[in-house]
Amino acid sequence: MTRNTFGIAVMPGDGIGIEVTQAALAVLDAAERRFGFATSREQVPGGALLYRDTGDAFPEASFARARAADAILFGAMGWPDIRYPDGTEIAPQLDLRFRLELFAGVRPIRALPGVGSVLKDPRAEKIDLVILRESTEGMFAARGRTVMVGDTEARDTQVITRATTERLSDFAFTLARRRKARGGGKGLVTLVDKANVFGSFAFMRRVFHEVALRHPDITAAHHYVDAMALDLVRRPWAFDVLPMENLFGDILSDLGAGLIGGMGFAPSADIGAAHGMFQPSHGSAPDIFGQGIANPTAAILSAAMMLDWLAETRAAPALAAAAAAITQAVDQAFADGMRTADIGGGDGTVAVGRRVAALIADGTADPP
Ligand code: NAI
Ligand code: MG
Repeated sequence: MTRNTFGIAVMPGDGIGIEVTQAALAVLDAAERRFGFATSREQVPGGALLYRDTGDAFPEASFARARAADAILFGAMGWPDIRYPDGTEIAPQLDLRFRLELFAGVRPIRALPGVGSVLKDPRAEKIDLVILRESTEGMFAARGRTVMVGDTEARDTQVITRATTERLSDFAFTLARRRKARGGGKGLVTLVDKANVFGSFAFMRRVFHEVALRHPDITAAHHYVDAMALDLVRRPWAFDVLPMENLFGDILSDLGAGLIGGMGFAPSADIGAAHGMFQPSHGSAPDIFGQGIANPTAAILSAAMMLDWLAETRAAPALAAAAAAITQAVDQAFADGMRTADIGGGDGTVAVGRRVAALIADGTADPP
């Protein structure tokens, strides 16, 4: 029997994470009513303010609830002034990625109609690529394991494994196939590495091309990370799916967001074999918190990615239609002239949520 109710662990977190999550939930409400499914939502505490108040940024009970849910809808966690004694910031999302083995960080960079790109070239209106950030190893494997040599040297070691590189590569080719089938995808996967200098990246490239042989319908290519930083500005429309090491993905996904209007337009999904976490790529934005001007588009599109993933993993086609409708409603709203504060407009967080929800509720955004 097809399931109709899905358990969502909702973690608004800190700062504008709370505001944009509310807007995303308003859109989810409209999608549920329109497409006939339900979510049972559990608010799960976590974040920098919780750490300040209780000494625990992410209680074990919160982790258990996140693990038990069908999916995790995450806002943002962290606050620059609230830090652990060693000076690092509270970042439970990193622990969640490691502990739930959410190896695939899916970060679509798509120019929305009416918003377009900061690039002047008209082809930039067609930017539609996915940065696929490996999220459980790479340079981040060194987190919490820095080797200090007295007070004269610090060493962080990068880890690239065959198992994770194979999983990431398979994921990339499967994603490229799906994007092509839906229209718009170029059937192209380009590994971003630094194989000319580091043995770990030469190994990653070798394993990637081994996996590519199992996906002959998709073109496999590779690109050095420095050249990719150039080409993401020079010709981003030429790319499709871009798998890469964790730290490279962290950096280039912010560059990608910059191309299409900023962090408020960059959704993400952190996917593993058994779990999925969905969140805007941005943080808690203390500089604009409490003003009602945060752009909730990234959070709303992340909710759409959540439904799409649930549709696939739980065999629930109604959710795929709902995901498509949310994306269509966002596109329609911006095409019709909606403008958020980060791109110089006057539409606030709540107004954007309401506008997108209304386009779903009245059927305007129904998939064909
Ligand atoms: P940030 O993403 O919070 O903000 C960077 C800039 O983008 C700011 O100028 C902000 O106003 C703007 N911005 C971000 N999201 C926006 C939105 N939806 N609408 C309009 N403008 C938006 O990054 P920042 O300032 O480096 O970090 C702030 C805090 O967030 C830190 O404590 C950091 O650790 C945390 N953080 C948490 C993340 C997560 O939970 N996944 C990711 C990144 C940062
Ligand atoms: Mg980042």
